[in-house]
Amino acid sequence: MTARLIRAEDDPIERRAAARLTATFDGKHLEGEAGQTVAGLLLANGIDSWRTTSVNGRPRGLFCGIGVCFDCIVTVNDERDVRACQRRVQDGDVVCPQHDELPEVKH
Ligand code: FES
Repeated sequence: MTARLIRAEDDPIERRAAARLTATFDGKHLEGEAGQTVAGLLLANGIDSWRTTSVNGRPRGLFCGIGVCFDCIVTVNDERDVRACQRRVQDGDVVCPQHDELPEVKH
């Protein structure tokens, strides 16, 4: 056994079960724990991309995880441009993917 693989009852931190919560992403029911970020909730539910790039529509999700890159933006409860890695999910949150077309350039 390594230091990383200790039984829960031997864990000196004594982690307790967190309150459960539910949210939706793109209409899909998700279950998580109080204290999780939106990104943590999405990843824990098997969703690893939740935005597409303006050019070519490529999938994006978590990149830096610390609020710097803005790759993880989503819409939460109709609020756009929320960084999923920075926002703690609340019970009942409605999370939606976000895709923005680039403005057309006129010459
Ligand atoms: S992953 Fe970079 S800002 Fe959220």
